[in-house]
Amino acid sequence: MNTSTLKTERLILRKFTERDIEALYQILRDKEVNRFLPWYPLQSMEEAEAFYQERYAAKYAEPRGYQYAICLKSDDRPIGYIKVDMQEHHDFGYGLRREFWHRGIVTEAGKAVVEQVRADGLPYITATHDVQNPRSGAVMQKLGMTYRYSYIEQWQPKDIRVTFRMYQLNFDGNEQRVYKKYWNQYAEHFVEVL
Ligand SMILES: CC(C)(COP(=O)(O)OP(=O)(O)OC[C@H]1O[C@@H](n2cnc3c(N)ncnc32)[C@H](O)[C@@H]1OP(=O)(O)O)[C@@H](O)C(=O)NCCC(=O)NCCS
Repeated sequence: MNTSTLKTERLILRKFTERDIEALYQILRDKEVNRFLPWYPLQSMEEAEAFYQERYAAKYAEPRGYQYAICLKSDDRPIGYIKVDMQEHHDFGYGLRREFWHRGIVTEAGKAVVEQVRADGLPYITATHDVQNPRSGAVMQKLGMTYRYSYIEQWQPKDIRVTFRMYQLNFDGNEQRVYKKYWNQYAEHFVEVL
């Protein structure tokens, strides 16, 4: 029940392993890919190793989780990541090497992960994106997530003021449920007409 392998038409979604640290480094070192991610670009293989241990190996030791490497079937090498957290927000997130953008890869991976968490009985997922990153909002929409509200956060560790849009997808038929934690936490919040 932790990151069990999924296959789609073009992709294998599986755990990262020790052998993928170079591939992980290539995904996470790019400054443009990093711009909207909540950590800084990796600077070395040592940082990639530490990232793998803290954010993948440690999570794979938990009973349940969804922390996937996105690989093309052709070579089974990670070109991106996609995840759903097990905390209350069930935050859905993803990132892809720039040379693989514009091919529908994250949408294809996202559909498979959404079906898996739905089948496993998660009640909902949420996702947030910077208003300056509409590409990410487009992925959320293609997966059936719907916009709920926006809020302004002094975002860490980059310490910049960001307006986020919060999207949600409920799986248990309770369409009205909205995850309100960010709304309650950040004084500047509002609903945009998109
Ligand atoms: C967000 C991100 C993953 C989106 O990547 P992407 O390749 O645009 O995502 P998709 O998988 O939805 O692909 C959509 C594009 O593929 C095209 N496409 C081609 N074949 C397709 C197919 N079979 N199905 C769907 N789209 C397809 C679409 O027309 C669209 O093209 P466009 O980019 O020219 O508009 C990517 O920009 C990224 O990694 N950004 C940096 C990290 C980041 O911001 N993460 C999210 C933080 S909230």
